[in-house]
Amino acid sequence: MKVPAVLAPGLLVLLFTWVQRSNGECKEALAKSEMNVNVNYQLPNFTAETPIQNVILHEHHIYLGATNYIYVLNEKDLQKVAEYKTGPVLEHPDCLPCQDCSSKANLSGGVWKDNVNMALLVDTYYDDQLISCGSVNRGTCQRHVLPPHNTADIQREVHCMFSPQADEEPGQCPDCVVSALGAKVLLSEKERFVNFFVGNTINSSYLPDHSLHSISVRRLKETQDGFKFLTDQSYIDVLPEFRDSYPIKYVHAFESNHFIYFLTVQRETLNAQTFHTRIIRFCSMDSGLHSYMEMPLECILTEKRRKRSTREEVFNILQAAYVSKPGAHLAKQIGANLNDDILYGVFAQSKPDSAEPMNRSAVCAFPIKYVNEYFNKIVNKNNVRCLQHFYGPNHEHCFNRMLLRNSSGCEVRSDEYRTEFTTPLPRIDLFMGQFNQVLLTSISTFIKGNLTIANLGTSEGRFMQVVVSRTVSSTPHVNFRLDSHPVSPEVIVEHPLNQNGYTLVITGKKITKIPLNGLGCGHFQSCSQCLSAPPFVQCGWCHDQCVRSDECPSGTQEICLPTVYKVFPTSAPLEGGTMLTICGWDFGFRKNNKFDLKKTKVLLGNESCTLTLSESTKNTLKCTVGPAMNEHFNMSIIISNSRGTAQYSTFSYVDPVITRISPSYGPKAGGTLLTLTGKYLNSGNSRHISIGGKTCTLKSVSNSILECYTPAQTISAEFPVKLKIDLANRETSSFSYREDPVVYEIHPTKSFIRHVSIARIQR
Ligand SMILES: *[C@@H]1O[C@H](CO)[C@@H](O)[C@H](O)[C@H]1NC(C)=O
Ligand SMILES: *[C@@H]1O[C@H](CO)[C@@H](O)[C@H](O)[C@H]1NC(C)=O
Ligand SMILES: *[C@@H]1O[C@H](CO)[C@@H](O)[C@H](O)[C@H]1NC(C)=O
Ligand SMILES: *[C@@H]1O[C@H](CO)[C@@H](O)[C@H](O)[C@H]1NC(C)=O
Ligand SMILES: *[C@@H]1O[C@H](CO)[C@@H](O)[C@H](O)[C@H]1NC(C)=O
Ligand SMILES: *[C@@H]1O[C@H](CO)[C@@H](O)[C@H](O)[C@H]1NC(C)=O
Ligand SMILES: *[C@@H]1O[C@H](CO)[C@@H](O)[C@H](O)[C@H]1NC(C)=O
Ligand SMILES: *[C@@H]1O[C@H](CO)[C@@H](O)[C@H](O)[C@H]1NC(C)=O
Repeated sequence: MKVPAVLAPGLLVLLFTWVQRSNGECKEALAKSEMNVNVNYQLPNFTAETPIQNVILHEHHIYLGATNYIYVLNEKDLQKVAEYKTGPVLEHPDCLPCQDCSSKANLSGGVWKDNVNMALLVDTYYDDQLISCGSVNRGTCQRHVLPPHNTADIQREVHCMFSPQADEEPGQCPDCVVSALGAKVLLSEKERFVNFFVGNTINSSYLPDHSLHSISVRRLKETQDGFKFLTDQSYIDVLPEFRDSYPIKYVHAFESNHFIYFLTVQRETLNAQTFHTRIIRFCSMDSGLHSYMEMPLECILTEKRRKRSTREEVFNILQAAYVSKPGAHLAKQIGANLNDDILYGVFAQSKPDSAEPMNRSAVCAFPIKYVNEYFNKIVNKNNVRCLQHFYGPNHEHCFNRMLLRNSSGCEVRSDEYRTEFTTPLPRIDLFMGQFNQVLLTSISTFIKGNLTIANLGTSEGRFMQVVVSRTVSSTPHVNFRLDSHPVSPEVIVEHPLNQNGYTLVITGKKITKIPLNGLGCGHFQSCSQCLSAPPFVQCGWCHDQCVRSDECPSGTQEICLPTVYKVFPTSAPLEGGTMLTICGWDFGFRKNNKFDLKKTKVLLGNESCTLTLSESTKNTLKCTVGPAMNEHFNMSIIISNSRGTAQYSTFSYVDPVITRISPSYGPKAGGTLLTLTGKYLNSGNSRHISIGGKTCTLKSVSNSILECYTPAQTISAEFPVKLKIDLANRETSSFSYREDPVVYEIHPTKSFIRHVSIARIQR
């Protein structure tokens, strides 16, 4: 089906099942009744000089980690209150991080490098301080002590978190934290210590100094001038021989109860071409990473086809994740408690044998307690493997022992071995394929009443809000374009329970503050759309528009009347049998989110127009008109959806007549352009002109004139001209066929145009 030009591509998301059934005749009505996804909103925003990578909120200030800058903004209006330049940085092999290298600027080997922000954290255990780790200076971090009276001042006290290691092994660098190829850092305060859990993408470019680790836990020294590893088990690295063939992307990190979790995208096995998503878990107290385990996660769309045949599509590449509590309804649907942490993930399908995502996404929710239960389902060697990328394919050690763990504690045993679980934990797409034509790049959630709402971002810079439910398929109630850049997975949701709750969304160099309570009601264009918005956005139908309920003094309408946008054809012959197409909306009503036309009726004057339900949709009614005794003009079409009626007065019953045909004769070979003159010749749906039982090929149609090309006949004779319009038959004077004219010669026989073949016609 062709997408109507008036619809933005993002609207595709909204059309889902209806599109498949709509035959396109009523696409204008469809566009007019669906949500307007092209509204521009005025929202607080800030545009940085360079792309923004990270955002964190602290004490009413928003801190942005961008390329070469850290910005501080007001929470209220996103006005910039401070900025700090972090790059470009001159790097030289002889120059340690934190050293001023400017004296080496003219020496060979010095390179100016942009400083991309890899991690931005706030630590409140010691002083309140902002910690930023960048792509330069071997991935070391800086801390900006935030003065209590002016937490926006990130300039006053800046310390480099690097101290040269005298007593450590050479090549070891606990202060080298993040990889420029990608990193996720989680800060956790436990038992009077600040720990940094880090997942880094590494490849052989980092081989020379071995200083960055794939996954590690390190402790902030009390002097705060750097970090230390507690044991030589505090880090794990992809084996050097696999670093370039087995990249690991760390997508998200979080803490829940006694565990630290990382989410990654990596190849299924060392030799596989295909990529999948894994969850990593270890105890937060486990500085030796003995409890480290990995397990694949799968977000699946199942399509029920005919009996017993279901198709399963796996959305293998995690794009973004968010952990929070469920609303009461969702909790019940997925068997979780209100206090359980739920991992929400947006997954994309990758191109074959690649980690590059396609425009096909799904959303899955994994209660963390199920993740933990699943980790306990390790039964035998059939679903457990050694971590091949860390220990090589032939390592057998890891089968020694595993501990069953629950969320109530995490006892660490040094004789335990790190393992990889091979059976994936599957979940089903919460939106049943609704997002299988876009690439979702961001997710966060919040709760309103009993509902769980997701904020979703797309690769085309669209922002959507949609109710998350396992049982009802809801469509977004907010959908607009923020920017042309993709929405970043780094998001913040603040004050979700308050009326003034908001989310901060990054697109390229821009950050925008979007209220959680929706963006008004004006984008709902039809009554049923307006009334199906979730209750917390408080929209009501008021004199043909959707407004916030308190803006409708006369009180909002509780029921939706049908609306007719267009009817065609506008006239039918008296004989009837013409199928009318009525375009519009709210012809039926939604019940349990299914569209119902069972109680819908169409009357033409006093007679019913028989509905063909199988061809009718939300925006299209098809009905067949009965015969009429006399001509009627401008009759009422009355549509009733059992709650109300709509009237449309453009339909007429007419008596088509042919008054004249011209010319009255032509050659046996046919091809004569015949003109039929009369009245109401364009009524009904289909017309067919025949001469002697053969089709006269229609050229043009209007109320008073039909034109057609005569068919060939084998004999010269008179044949009746017959016109059939739907069930109506009309006959007129005859057309006579004569011998074909004979052409003996053509002058001139020469032409300036080459390759013209002139036929001599002779019979
Ligand atoms: C961004 O903010 C500026 C004012 O700072 C405003 O003029 C502009 O309309 C906003 N843009 C959007 C898309 O809201
Ligand atoms: C580097 O060279 C430029 C000119 O080539 C000179 O102006 C500058 O002072 C030199 N800088 C240092 C640190 O030597
Ligand atoms: C390491 O990864 C970076 C970024 O993907 C790439 O540019 C570089 O070529 C890689 N190095 C090697 C040795 O593969
Ligand atoms: C995904 O959609 C966007 C926008 O419609 C398009 O530019 C891009 O090429 C598409 N990507 C793929 C992999 O199809
Ligand atoms: C959790 O595991 C510990 C021992 O590992 C056990 O004592 C405790 O009863 C378990 N709790 C639950 C809720 O299963
Ligand atoms: C939430 O659901 C419960 C039971 O389903 C109901 O009693 C309660 O009123 C609902 N709360 C809201 C805010 O809708
Ligand atoms: C419909 O029926 C009413 C009464 O039965 C009659 O007066 C009226 O003329 C009828 N209208 C049409 C268009 O047949
Ligand atoms: C039907 O309505 C149209 C416009 O409302 C009007 O121009 C036309 O004269 C009407 N026809 C008859 C026969 O009443």
